[in-house]
Amino acid sequence: MRQAGRFLPEYRALREQHGFLELCKTPALAAEVTLLPIRRFPVDAAILFADILLILEPMGVGLEFAQGDGPVIHRPVRSAADVDALARVPAAEGTPFVFETIRHAQALLAGEVPLVGFAGAPFTLASYAVEGGGSRNYAETKKLMYGDARTWHRLMERLTEATVEYLQAQVSAGVDALQLFDSWVGCLSPDDYRAYVLPHMRTLFEALASSGVPVVHFGTGTATLLELMREAGGDVIGLDWRVDLADAWARLGAGVAVQGNFDPVALLASPDEIRRRVQRILDQAGGRPGHIFNLGHGVLPETPPEHVAALVDAVHELSAVR
Ligand code: CP3
Repeated sequence: MRQAGRFLPEYRALREQHGFLELCKTPALAAEVTLLPIRRFPVDAAILFADILLILEPMGVGLEFAQGDGPVIHRPVRSAADVDALARVPAAEGTPFVFETIRHAQALLAGEVPLVGFAGAPFTLASYAVEGGGSRNYAETKKLMYGDARTWHRLMERLTEATVEYLQAQVSAGVDALQLFDSWVGCLSPDDYRAYVLPHMRTLFEALASSGVPVVHFGTGTATLLELMREAGGDVIGLDWRVDLADAWARLGAGVAVQGNFDPVALLASPDEIRRRVQRILDQAGGRPGHIFNLGHGVLPETPPEHVAALVDAVHELSAVR
């Protein structure tokens, strides 16, 4: 996660020449960025270079990535009228560059490793759309959810519909797997997840079931939500480092794969410590099929690339003996 991002000096060099949205919207460049980590590390998959928020821009909310401040939505969605005003634009017209990047990246990858496509899950997208950017307490999001459930569900329906179309178009363009990022859903209680999120996630996964590619269902801070996430759907459940992988897998049951769950901040520790922590996670997975080794969340920009190399080597070496 964020393996194609700012911890790579070659990415930072490109960013000196181009804005972030400009990179996303220039398929030749976005495809190159997708391949940067593949050229540097023997990782087992590439992730499409794009962003979960790109899907919101054609809806007319005014998306900007301000220097140093993270994403900004200039016209937040906070009322029934705001939801009605969201434009309905077919994915092929709204984000054609994403599908072009996929075709371009697949040509460059030439089958070397699979390409993972992705989208934000409706709750996480809604949180940005309603807050107008990142948030700590999700106050505006919860105000809408608790104060006007009808409008909340209409917003979630709109985002779910758009996301299904967007992901189906990614599969048509050639991705080999999909990941749904519900990065901030861990701010909800199980009751609220069940009432305000789960029905939409179920619709989403049901619609993707016929896509023919595996789907990863990812979130963070989800220790209390894992069973509900499983109920919602996904072939793979993403785990963050706050849970013990073996315990979490036991709760989820044998019929589902898991992904995770190395603490990205531990990549700042020494290669020896990284190796010990890789071993611990592999021990918890116990050589069972259906474990995708990954970070529990994104690589931090200050991570030394050599530490990522040490992680990838440790995973390959320590899992090969099984
Ligand atoms: O390498 C990859 O993982 C592929 C590309 C990717 C990006 N964003 C590129 C990016 C992916 C998969 C994402 C997903 C994404 N974007 C998520 C879900 C995953 C997660 O981390 O929880 C979320 C919540 C976003 C929204 C977003 N985009 C934020 C909050 C930010 C600012 C982050 C920051 O630290 O400044 C972005 C910008 C962004 N997306 C960057 C990259 C490489 C950095 C932009 C830059 O180059 O300045």
